[in-house]
Amino acid sequence: MPNTWTLKDKSFEKYIISQDIQAAIDGLAQRINQEMVGKNPVFVIVLNGAFIFASDLIKKVKIDCEIAFVKLSSYAGTSSTGIVREVMGLDIDLKERTVIIIEDIVDTGLTLDSFLNTVWKMGPADVKVATCLLKPEAFKDRFPVEYVCFRIPNEFVVGYGLDYDGLGRNSEDIYKIK
Ligand code: PRP
Repeated sequence: MPNTWTLKDKSFEKYIISQDIQAAIDGLAQRINQEMVGKNPVFVIVLNGAFIFASDLIKKVKIDCEIAFVKLSSYAGTSSTGIVREVMGLDIDLKERTVIIIEDIVDTGLTLDSFLNTVWKMGPADVKVATCLLKPEAFKDRFPVEYVCFRIPNEFVVGYGLDYDGLGRNSEDIYKIK
C-alpha cells in the first residue's frame, strides 16, 4: 500500500506496517494459546471493524475455541456519538463460558463498556478483551483490557478494518490522519 492515502476529504499517512501488526498478533496468540488451554473460549467479534484483526488472530490460535459475532455501532464520521447501538445481537449462550471479545480499537471504551454489561448479564465464567489498538488517553482504564497489540495516541486511524465514513477498511497497514 502507498505511504499516503486519500479518503474523501482527508489525507492519511502510513503508521503501523503489516509486518509489525502480524508480529504483535503472534505475541497475543501465543499468550492466548498458553492461558486458554482447556477453556474452549468463545471469541466474540465486534463487527464491522474487528473482522480483519479477528481473522488474523484466530488463525494463530491453536487451542479449541468457538466464534460468534455481534455488530455494535457508535461512530458517525470521525467522532464517537456515545450512543451504542446493537445492530446485530449474539446468537450463542455465554453462560459459564470463557469469553474473549475482539475489537479493532478501544478508543473512549464506551462501546465495550456498554457491551460488557450485556455480556456479564449472561452469566459467563470469565470475560476478557482483545484489541488491536488502544488509545489510553481517551480510554482512561474504564475496564481491564488483557490483550492489546498497540497503544496509540489520540489520533484518527484507518486501515486494517478501521474506516473513515465506510472507506479505508481494505488495507493490511494502519494509517493515521495527516
Ligand atoms: C469503532 C470500533 C469500536 C468503537 C471504539 O466502531 O470498532 O467498536 O468504535 O470506540 P469507543 O471505544 O470510543 O467506543 P464503529 O462504531 O466505528 O463501528 P465499525 O466497527 O462498524 O466501524
